[in-house]
Amino acid sequence: MKAQFERDGYLKLERFFSSSECDALRKRMDELICANEDASRTEFCTDRAMHTDDLHLLDSGDKIRFFYEKNFEHHKSQLALERPRLLNKVGHALHDLDPVFSAFSRHPKLKHLAQVLGMPRAALLQSMYIFKQPLIGGEVNCHQDGTFLMAEPDTVIGLWVALEDASVANGCLWVIPEGHKGPLRSRWVRSGDSCSFEDEHAYEFDLEKMVPVELGKGGLLVMHAKLPHMSHENTSDQSRHAYTLHIMDAQSQFLSSNWLRRPQGLPFCDFDNQPVH
Ligand code: FE2
Repeated sequence: MKAQFERDGYLKLERFFSSSECDALRKRMDELICANEDASRTEFCTDRAMHTDDLHLLDSGDKIRFFYEKNFEHHKSQLALERPRLLNKVGHALHDLDPVFSAFSRHPKLKHLAQVLGMPRAALLQSMYIFKQPLIGGEVNCHQDGTFLMAEPDTVIGLWVALEDASVANGCLWVIPEGHKGPLRSRWVRSGDSCSFEDEHAYEFDLEKMVPVELGKGGLLVMHAKLPHMSHENTSDQSRHAYTLHIMDAQSQFLSSNWLRRPQGLPFCDFDNQPVH
C-alpha cells in the first residue's frame, strides 16, 4: 500500500467507512447548519485572486465557519434555494471542536492507515466538509494541497472521504497519477492578515493526464501534498458531500508561513487527541 502511494501519489480505498458512519456525519452537519446562523455570508471559490485578505477564511483555522457558493445570491433567487443548499463548505477545525467530527477523524482505521504510510504519530491539521451542491456546486481548480499546507519535512497527506457516491456526473475528484513527482508549483504565503501566491516553479499542470477517481459512499482517497487534483462543476441533480482531513507526521514542523493558524489554547492534536508540539 505504501509503495503504491509513493508510486502514484494517491490511494483509492473503497468502503473504508461504513454507510452508517457517513450518514452520522451528514446528520451532524445538518445539526451544525441549523444551530449556527452566520453573521455574514462569505463566498468561497478557488479563483487565484480570492481570499487574499479575507479574515473570514484566514481566521477559520481554529473555528467552524460556513462558506457559500460563488454567486449564491443569484442561485438563491433563480432556483429558490434555502440556506443549506447554498453552502460550499464548512471549515477548518471541525475535527477538534465537534465531538462527532473528532470521533470520525480519529477513527482507529485512519490512525492505522497513517502508520502504514509511515507516520507512527500524526498531527491532525485541518478539516473541511464539502457539499458540492447539485446544479450549483462550483469547479475547484487544479492545485496541489501543498500550496496551502506545507511542513518541513513535507509529510502532509490529504484524506478525502466520499460521504455519498462520487462520480464523474456529480463532480468527483480528478488527479494526475504520479503528478506528485513534479515540484510544488506555488505556495500561498501568509504575512500578517493577508496571503499571496509565491511561485516556486511556474509550470502548467498537464490536464490531459487527469483521470477521474470515482468512489462509492464511504470510499477514501489518500493524496500526497504535491498531487495535482481538481473537480469539475456539479451540473447533476445529485449532491456530492465529502469530508477532508489533512494530517502530517508529528515530527514535521508546520510552517509558520501557512495560512492556517492555531492559538495557544488549541494546538494540533494526534489521533489520540494528545497535543502535538
Ligand atoms: Fe485539494
